[in-house]
Amino acid sequence: MHLPLSDMYNQPDERNLLDQMRQGVIGQPLDRPEGPLKVSGTATYAAEWRIDGCVEGVLVLAGIAQGQVSKIDRDAVLSREGVIAVIADPAMTRRPAQGMAAKAPQQDAAKVEYFGQPVALVVAQTFEQARDAALALPIYYTDAEGDPVPFDPAAPGVKVEAPSSSKPVEGGDLDQAMQDAAFSVDVEYDTPGHASAAMEPHATIAQWQGDSLILHGSYQMLSYNVKEIADCLGLSTDKVRIIAPYVGGGFGSKLGITHEAVAAALAARGLGRPVRVVMSRQQVFQTVIRRSETRQRVRLAADPAGRLIGLGHEALVSNLPGEKFAEPVTQATEFLYGGENRLLKVEVVRISRLTAGSVRAPGEAVGMQVLEAAMDELAEKIGIDPIELRKRNLPAEVPVAGTPYSSRMLTQALEQGAEAFGWSARQDRPCQTRDGDWWIGMGVASAARVNMMVPAKAKVTLTADGSAVVESDQTDIGTGSYAILGQIAGEMLGLPMSRVDVKLGDTVHPAGAGSGGSFGAISTGSAVMYACEAIRAKLAKALGCDADALVLKDGMASGGNAPARPLRDLLNGEDIAETGTIKPGKTAKSFSQASYGAFFAEVAVHAFTGEVRVRRMTGAFGFGRVLNAKTARSQCLGGMVWGIGSALTEELAFDTRDGHLVNHDLAEYHVPVHADVPAIEVILLEERDAAASPLQAKGVGELGICGAAGAIANAVYNACGVRVRSFPLTLDKIL
Ligand code: MOS
Repeated sequence: MHLPLSDMYNQPDERNLLDQMRQGVIGQPLDRPEGPLKVSGTATYAAEWRIDGCVEGVLVLAGIAQGQVSKIDRDAVLSREGVIAVIADPAMTRRPAQGMAAKAPQQDAAKVEYFGQPVALVVAQTFEQARDAALALPIYYTDAEGDPVPFDPAAPGVKVEAPSSSKPVEGGDLDQAMQDAAFSVDVEYDTPGHASAAMEPHATIAQWQGDSLILHGSYQMLSYNVKEIADCLGLSTDKVRIIAPYVGGGFGSKLGITHEAVAAALAARGLGRPVRVVMSRQQVFQTVIRRSETRQRVRLAADPAGRLIGLGHEALVSNLPGEKFAEPVTQATEFLYGGENRLLKVEVVRISRLTAGSVRAPGEAVGMQVLEAAMDELAEKIGIDPIELRKRNLPAEVPVAGTPYSSRMLTQALEQGAEAFGWSARQDRPCQTRDGDWWIGMGVASAARVNMMVPAKAKVTLTADGSAVVESDQTDIGTGSYAILGQIAGEMLGLPMSRVDVKLGDTVHPAGAGSGGSFGAISTGSAVMYACEAIRAKLAKALGCDADALVLKDGMASGGNAPARPLRDLLNGEDIAETGTIKPGKTAKSFSQASYGAFFAEVAVHAFTGEVRVRRMTGAFGFGRVLNAKTARSQCLGGMVWGIGSALTEELAFDTRDGHLVNHDLAEYHVPVHADVPAIEVILLEERDAAASPLQAKGVGELGICGAAGAIANAVYNACGVRVRSFPLTLDKIL
């Protein structure tokens, strides 16, 4: 075994260390160790910490869309029972950052830029007193100067800009290819805004100790969130500690710090006592983050053999003026299919609605659902099976860029998924299968999501008694970080899971990757692996064998000619602690890295009402090594459930007169419930990707949503012959 010369992951690591280990825990469908705490209600979520002397803050959101706050009449509520303070501060109104410590634009406290922007915080002894005063707080506004920013992306005169975050991809002559094509599709689809709708609403308890700040909160990216809060309050980062051992979902909405964190920190500093701010479900919807709606034009040009010669994907998304983020709709289109003549482009319109940001699988979630529906349209025109069309159009290298693929299981996913699903029973033409009053149809779509690695650190201690402790500020947002990181350490150090303890979600630990972009497990997991590799080198030395020959299993060490010895003896009463570090190097850029899969859906469409029910779904996915077959399956399954929502029900509705979000809770924003979710089968395809990470694993967290809604839309067409190009496919559009 050779220790990595550098922590930069610069070339594919072919050693495949994990497969040489003997413990046999990696990849196993092990339960999450923190699961019992969560299901028994004993895991402490952000708002549940008991802090002595803590008082309660409730945010007040702007009741206008654009203008100035001219006066906040504090006296009108300060005399109410229990009310302690009304706080308004410029930092509090700061838009949610996009994670990654991107500096959010600073704003004047008095300026309101969208309906629902936080403008004040009311603090009282109890939550009810604070909420009551917040509702009663008189706020006076003056109108905005100059032309208002439009509320609707379709409004006349909206400002359209090229986003700074992405460049168009252009190659050849797409218009000419469309003219030359034997078969072509030129269609426009739209997708609505989405909410992250994480189970746990955003909440923070802020507590100062001298000039140091401790936040108990619900965030995805702790070491970045420390930078954001420090930047916001003018602190140095070593003065901020964030504690978030359990996070009840994020889906992008907790990548960056949000208003309640800043408000709680400011109020706690001003009042000299701990302050808790919990957002209501409605506040989360109104002010945290939205996925932009999109309008997408897809052009596909194919030759007589059904090979793409041209591919166009142009998207219009929206955000507030000045925001960098633009939903990267064409991200997977860049590398998925061929077509040398191409134009891929995203443009952003400036409107006055809450900030648009990353919501699970930004880009692919909505880009793939549309691209895959358009591919279905092309398959029908050509008259070939939609699976065959996809298989014919997988390029040898990324078009235009010429980058090689690190690994790609798309063909296998399509074939094995089709087999398991029973695709051969599908009728080529729509309206062929009827079950009582229901039309039955089947649809397919590819899945693709970019694979990313980000810098991460983790510390592993092999304690003198032969147990391991893993420490990182990596979060577990319900995805399985505790289980997976423990399995990596257990495998590398030859320990059963009962002897591995994982401590996460606290910035006193080394900075992990955080949970975002499907990179948490592979990035922080690679750091854990490197830390263990360094421990193994020391153990080999103590045992007197080559590192390559060291075998660790069930707490015993052996290797070479050395007799097997318990780890405890080798350690001689001393702990061994090592910190592993991983950073993406040139490898990240020299290969196109993505996770792939395929979705299959069977739907029923009611012949008289247009109601759509998903009857069953199958997904097959290849994302490198499977680190834990249970948590990976859960991620894929959860993504497919969101696919059902994207296809059929989920849609943010904004009032076009003032940009305010009308359906701001789970009663009116319809996520799928049990009755909407049929049998879902998930097939995990084992693969090794040495370029993606030392674990040979790629990201899986977001893969399950990337295209799922397209398979459902295609099944709806196959059932009833109605092609709806506007998501969600509600019954009014189908009739
Ligand atoms: Mo994800 S939208 O990067 O949490």
